[in-house]
Amino acid sequence: MYFVTGTDTDSGKTLVSAALLSKAQGHKCGFKPIASGCISTDAGLRNSDALMLIAQSNMDLPYQVVNPICFEPAIAPHIAAKQTNQTLTAQRVLDTMYHPAMLDADFALIEGAGGWRLPLGNGEYLSETVKLLHAKLQQIQLVQGQQATSQVEVILVVGMKLGCLNHALLTQEAVLADGLSIAGWVANQVDPDMAFIDDNLNSLQQMMQGPFLGYVPHLANATAEHAASYLQLPK
Ligand SMILES: Nc1ncnc2c1ncn2[C@@H]1O[C@H](COP(=O)(O)OP(=O)(O)OP(=O)(O)O)[C@@H](O)[C@H]1O
Ligand SMILES: [Mg+2]
Repeated sequence: MYFVTGTDTDSGKTLVSAALLSKAQGHKCGFKPIASGCISTDAGLRNSDALMLIAQSNMDLPYQVVNPICFEPAIAPHIAAKQTNQTLTAQRVLDTMYHPAMLDADFALIEGAGGWRLPLGNGEYLSETVKLLHAKLQQIQLVQGQQATSQVEVILVVGMKLGCLNHALLTQEAVLADGLSIAGWVANQVDPDMAFIDDNLNSLQQMMQGPFLGYVPHLANATAEHAASYLQLPK
């Protein structure tokens, strides 16, 4: 089970998540537990990230399972929640998003929102939900008498643009300090004009821990399949 975070909003989490899903074999599903920036349809609110993940999944889960928390305005989720008199807590987000398919799938990933330390309000963060999910999966396996082998590991998408080295290192530090492991990182060129890409990539390769899953150049046609050709799946 992977949790995909990024150095920032718009760093390429959805593109990379969809690409990894398209590469994965067997039963696969992607989740987007919290989304802001949703459009109103006859079936309810819909978010383009969640729809892109669904398009690469093959487990036929209802929309609400993939994206249980959906806000219409494209603003920070805890501010959107306040506007609609809702409270987000790490535990409530976990309770809302957890689904057995997360353990049944051969390949499952959860796309975060924003970056690693996304505020939920009242001093809580989405990163705490990830820690709670990690503990919950281990607990479920222990109750079932299995070895606790399934865990939540983080995939970090570095949105390659000026300033990304600092964001990448801070995110890596925070993930590791939170006791989670990094299954891999991706360098995704969001800025088509980033200067000295090779030098920046070299610096990242020296500083980042965890396997390098690939460099996705700036793509004229940024589809999951196209991005997938530049990536490898985490082991
Ligand atoms: N390598 C790339 N080449 C071209 N366009 C890209 C690339 N990576 C991302 N994009 C584009 O940049 C935009 C942001 O990417 P994406 O939606 O994957 O980011 P995100 O981190 O998921 O954002 P959010 O925080 O909103 O979930 C999208 O329009 C996407 O198609
Ligand atoms: Mg996204």
